[in-house]
Amino acid sequence: MATNKMNIAVIPGDGIGKEVVPEGIRVLNAAAVKYGLDFNFDTFDFASCDYYQKHGQMMPDDWKDQIGGHDAIFFGAVGWPDTVPDHVSLWGSLLQFRREFDQYVSLRPAKLMPGVTSPLAGRGPGDIDMMIVRENTEGEYSSIGGRMYPGTDREIVMQETVMSRVGVDRILRYAFDLARKRGGKLTSATKSNGISITMPYWDERVLEMQKSYPDVTVDKYHIDILAAMFVLHPDRFDVVVGSNLFGDILSDLGPACTGTIGIAPSGNINPEHKFPSLFEPVHGSAPDIAGKGIANPIGQIWSGAMMLEHLGHPEAAQGIMAAIETVLTDPALRTGDLGGTADTVTCGKAIAAAV
Ligand code: NAI
Ligand code: MG
Repeated sequence: MATNKMNIAVIPGDGIGKEVVPEGIRVLNAAAVKYGLDFNFDTFDFASCDYYQKHGQMMPDDWKDQIGGHDAIFFGAVGWPDTVPDHVSLWGSLLQFRREFDQYVSLRPAKLMPGVTSPLAGRGPGDIDMMIVRENTEGEYSSIGGRMYPGTDREIVMQETVMSRVGVDRILRYAFDLARKRGGKLTSATKSNGISITMPYWDERVLEMQKSYPDVTVDKYHIDILAAMFVLHPDRFDVVVGSNLFGDILSDLGPACTGTIGIAPSGNINPEHKFPSLFEPVHGSAPDIAGKGIANPIGQIWSGAMMLEHLGHPEAAQGIMAAIETVLTDPALRTGDLGGTADTVTCGKAIAAAV
């Protein structure tokens, strides 16, 4: 049940995370006024490299107790490779959230927006509008396997794909539900011609799930031609679902077809709301521009809209999206990565005002 009162754990993290998160909150507060919502924001300094430098770890031992009871996590970006190696900062924070909070859906919209030039010729605003749904907990990214006879001529390495009925069905159910809410069209990524055990199983579960969604049209493509189709005919897709590996690739390729990393959002979602879901921009901490106040805040702001959608406030989410689209049409309100002249705060304030 959606309630108007929401408890949000805010984690700015590192670099431009600390600059774009306040703009995300500014816009959420504007939406709260407009749509009668009531946010309580609790800000945490952990899951950052500054925290690591002070405490020798990325998060306190009781991090799960501190944020596990919130309705969602609004996250900036983590990583400062000059002081903490990336694998330490990432594994010590984001990947912990994904696992411990069973965020088995990775959701990334790919939408071509006004004011953004697609790297694909001849595509304009609205021509590309899809959602990539990636399985986030099993599949090809398993730790089952090993290495034998290392360093010899007989060296053997092996890593097994794991697909469980529970794991496949729950991601498919999420994707079908999303397709039903949107255009009623779902594309499944497969490779059952080459990967002859797990991918036919994936296809089989798609067919089984389809029986419960007679109103959703389903097609499937092998991943190789699907990647080509994203570039040649992105307009043909709406909701696209893939295993961990295929979803990983498509969730970078899709947004890349729609322009810039500065505006791309993402959700790491536990659909049952058993644990908080996490919403963050796709980009990282951008050390090259951090501290200059020029980062594009739209990836963060759009992530806030996805968070509202997840928490049962689609109208407020659409309000934020409409405000982003309005602001993007004005070069004086766009940041430099989009050829505009605005700084981070100017862009954030303009979107809040448009809401
Ligand atoms: P990055 O996304 O931080 O930056 C890549 C390029 O895009 C840079 O030139 C940057 O200036 C530009 N850029 C990124 N966001 C922008 C924005 N909002 N506005 C304007 N320009 C923007 O990726 P990079 O440089 O590979 O990684 C930097 C750090 O971020 C590393 O420590 C990495 O591990 C971490 N990282 C964290 C992520 C996360 O928190 N989910 C995701 C990706 C990287
Ligand atoms: Mg990736």
